[in-house]
Amino acid sequence: MDRVLITGALGQLGTTLQKVLYKKGDFVIATDIRDATKKIECQYEKLDVLSYDELQRIVEKYEINVIYHLVAILSAKGEKNPFHSWKINMETFQNIIDVSIKSKIKKIFWPSSIAVFGKDSNLNFVPQNAHMNPTTIYGVSKLAGEKLMNYYYHKYKLDIRSIRFPGIISMETKPGGGVTDYIIEMLKASKKGKDYNCFLNKDKRLPMIYMEDAISAIILLMSANRSKLTISSSYNIKGFTATPEEFYSAIKSNGYKIRINYKVDYRQKIANTWPEDLDDTKARKDWGWHPKFGLEKTIKSALNI
Ligand SMILES: NC(=O)c1ccc[n+]([C@@H]2O[C@H](COP(=O)([O-])OP(=O)(O)OC[C@H]3O[C@@H](n4cnc5c(N)ncnc54)[C@H](O)[C@@H]3O)[C@@H](O)[C@H]2O)c1
Repeated sequence: MDRVLITGALGQLGTTLQKVLYKKGDFVIATDIRDATKKIECQYEKLDVLSYDELQRIVEKYEINVIYHLVAILSAKGEKNPFHSWKINMETFQNIIDVSIKSKIKKIFWPSSIAVFGKDSNLNFVPQNAHMNPTTIYGVSKLAGEKLMNYYYHKYKLDIRSIRFPGIISMETKPGGGVTDYIIEMLKASKKGKDYNCFLNKDKRLPMIYMEDAISAIILLMSANRSKLTISSSYNIKGFTATPEEFYSAIKSNGYKIRINYKVDYRQKIANTWPEDLDDTKARKDWGWHPKFGLEKTIKSALNI
């Protein structure tokens, strides 16, 4: 049985991941810098991952052997204070790596993002090994993290696994401040019957993934035999691609009568440096990635139709 530590477990991804891993039968300790306000089934501890000593104490106390490190300041929020974002994104990851080497952690999951790409990445169909010149501090820190995981794998055989997630769609929490938050806000507005001001252009296409697919990707990658993994940094994956207008049409065709106004802001400029589509053949070949949710199925599931 895995003895799992999740950091940033009260965020969008962690809220679902901790439940799924706990139900799967792993021992799970969920942690976050905040107090847990909702009921959590697995054990919970407050933990600031910037504190090396606290992290080490929890890893030792619970005899952890697998870590899911989800702490990050996301793309749009990160631009408000780049120095703070770099500190949170990189120092917490370094602490995780250091403790993992000392405590002989057998596997780590650390999510990267499509924010690692940039205008030199062939944005209409980004290959696995694209040129990467990210434009946000978030993308720069994710790219640096990818380089670190590759470095520590070769230096210490530290087994860190990673996925470059596109926008993750789920309804359970408030999104954490990313460029793809618009679809979650649009869905929440639809449920309340409210009009919505979208901060991206109606025809801005981006890759997306439904939460259920995101979680099954993590589980597939983490259970793969390491010898089958041909990438020692992060894997491209996507569920589907969509524009705000396509999401809006799908929501309307399911009977929701809201109106969308397009009020583009600074996030459009970030989205312009992100992929419209990407190649996830390596993930499909190496560890059997196969998404189950397309646009229509995502909308129906998110709206409980
Ligand atoms: N949500 C997406 O669409 C998406 C897409 C690509 C990659 N990712 C990656 O997935 C991971 C999780 O994303 P998310 O959407 O759940 O983010 P989120 O912002 O919802 O959650 C991050 C959590 O980290 C916690 N945190 C912040 N600083 C901390 C610290 N010092 N110590 C402990 N906890 C701290 C926050 O309280 C928050 O609960 C991140 O690494 C993110 O970059 C997410």
